[in-house]
Amino acid sequence: MKLIHSEQDIDALRRSAQAYAIASAWSAAGLFEALAQEEPLSANELPADTRAIEITAPILAHIGLLAGDGEKWTLSTAGRRLFEADALSLESAEDNLGDLSRLDQVLENGGPVCGPDGESRVTQVGVREKDPENIRRFQDFLYRRSGDSAAEAARWLAPLLTPNAKVLDLGGGHGRYGQALAEKGFAVTLFDLPLCIDYARQRYGNTFEYIAGDFMQADLGGPYDAVLISNIVHGLGPEENRGLVSRVSAVLKPGGWLLLKDMFLDDSGIGPENAALFGLMMLFYTRQGRSYSVREMNDLCGACGLGEIRHVRVPDAGFSLLLARKP
Ligand SMILES: C[S@@+](CC[C@H](N)C(=O)[O-])C[C@H]1O[C@@H](n2cnc3c(N)ncnc32)[C@H](O)[C@@H]1O
Repeated sequence: MKLIHSEQDIDALRRSAQAYAIASAWSAAGLFEALAQEEPLSANELPADTRAIEITAPILAHIGLLAGDGEKWTLSTAGRRLFEADALSLESAEDNLGDLSRLDQVLENGGPVCGPDGESRVTQVGVREKDPENIRRFQDFLYRRSGDSAAEAARWLAPLLTPNAKVLDLGGGHGRYGQALAEKGFAVTLFDLPLCIDYARQRYGNTFEYIAGDFMQADLGGPYDAVLISNIVHGLGPEENRGLVSRVSAVLKPGGWLLLKDMFLDDSGIGPENAALFGLMMLFYTRQGRSYSVREMNDLCGACGLGEIRHVRVPDAGFSLLLARKP
């Protein structure tokens, strides 16, 4: 993000939040969908309040999602590409920004955030177990965004393993990381909560072995030559992570590797930006999660008996890989 030097910079921050709220509300109201299916439409042809469209459509055109002449509107080339990739399926402004507006309460009382009904909006590292529709949407979102990171994780792990090695993808969710590892010839076990396993099985069938359960308590199977823990540790507290990594260490073969993939903070604790900001989502939607630094992860692995720790930052993709070996 841009550094703040002036009141104008604060205005710019507010304008970004406003534009995001508009895109969210348009998505929830099905307005991108309406424009994707029709010839250019004027404000009064869209299924919403005409004045509200007249005021918000130019703002979406300004950020490049719509194209139009001020009278009729259509999706821009970028807007259509994003719409077709499902990247404009945003939650409503209330879901997206309503929670943010309750930051006052979170600062006072701590997270997780409560919805307007007063109910906690806590998740299990992103998943609301009682809400199958939420699980599907969340896993689709992660699947869509993990092509490069799954390939990168498999690329780093592969040279450390022998052909046919047994790999556990813990909290593997949608299965795209497991798929990248299976493509390298490894025998992959996907472990996740039961509804997520059902969902991954629909996508990947017999590509993996599956174990459904709570990774804090259930038998993790094994022993394994490697275990991948991707985008999990940020959702857990320090003691929970210690418990989880100890459990993983116990199912690794001697010489086996743990691969942690996440957005880790550098030792300053301030950056990179995506890791710092992601901590806010963990404050909102988990009981104890936060972004961790590479040093904290080194200490965690050491405390769980793992060594030979290597850290690889993948800057363009905004995440890190941390490898640690069981002696
Ligand atoms: C943020 S997603 C990460 C999915 C995938 N590893 C990735 O990097 O895209 C967290 C995953 O952990 C799973 N999970 C959370 N708590 C769990 C638990 N106690 N036992 C098993 N799986 C759990 C969730 O269901 C979800 O699929």
